[in-house]
Amino acid sequence: MAWQAKVLIHNGRSVPFEEARIHPLSVVAAYGVGVFEGIRAYRNPATGRFFVFRLEEHLARIGQGMKIMRFDDPPSLATLREGVLRAVRENAPDEDAYIRLQVQIEAIGSQASTGPTGWFCACVPRERSAKYASGLSLGVSSWVRIADGAMPPRVKATANYHAGRLAGLQAKADGYDMAVILNHLGKVSETPGACLFLVRDGRLVTPSRQSDILESVTRDTVLTLAGEMGLAAEERLVDRTELYVVEEAFICGTGQELQPVVAVDRLPVGDGRPGAITMRLQAAYESVVRGTTDAHAEWRTPVAA
Ligand SMILES: Cc1ncc(COP(=O)(O)O)c(C=O)c1O
Repeated sequence: MAWQAKVLIHNGRSVPFEEARIHPLSVVAAYGVGVFEGIRAYRNPATGRFFVFRLEEHLARIGQGMKIMRFDDPPSLATLREGVLRAVRENAPDEDAYIRLQVQIEAIGSQASTGPTGWFCACVPRERSAKYASGLSLGVSSWVRIADGAMPPRVKATANYHAGRLAGLQAKADGYDMAVILNHLGKVSETPGACLFLVRDGRLVTPSRQSDILESVTRDTVLTLAGEMGLAAEERLVDRTELYVVEEAFICGTGQELQPVVAVDRLPVGDGRPGAITMRLQAAYESVVRGTTDAHAEWRTPVAA
């Protein structure tokens, strides 16, 4: 059985996991005014030590989110960093852990309230996807990705997940594992919780930052690892029909990790099996997050015992 979360760090206090509370009329509950990060801590199999993966990049992104959200009293990134490390330490996981760090307006107020803010950090078990090895079947959604001029996708805001939720529910009802969402211009954006990569003519292709994607930490990791493997990569606009003619496809995100895509709209991707480049990148990602390679030690923050 998976380990159990014991405590949650709430505004710097360690609270029993089941007893964490906010008011139902808080601005975050009423209007979704919160920004968060999904972060992972991986267990190194040789030493049993845990590493938080790319903590600094997650902190930088939540910092940008708090600025765009115009929070007037945001917690410092140093406070949040300590909260993340403490949440892992105090929960003492014995397997990989998923961390949710969130800054929110906890006061009762209006939709335009800018404070006071509160924050929490939870550390919970999360199993790897059942499709990690075999690959996912995706369906292009009729729901449209949120746009920079309305709900900036660059901000990992809790409210942003409404559109992806509808797309995900539609995809499940239609018999797919997951949705692919197009933006308001009809170009491929991402999935409800992960970015998308394709392999076309031997080159990696991923929707650009102007395709209404979340500026994903994992996407950046994949682009870096691909460059180090000598794989050419392009960040550009992607047409829907390119999804039907590529050799390979995969999704990537902190929570979803790196998973092959084997079909889109029931058309096989390549030969309908996880592709060779995808599997090489999946293996490289696995060793860098877990620290079974010395490469990119700067991406792994050790959690003190
Ligand atoms: C909508 C969305 N896109 C992409 C991603 C991937 O981002 P990251 O790699 O930073 O986890 C996420 C989060 O995991 C997400 O929620």
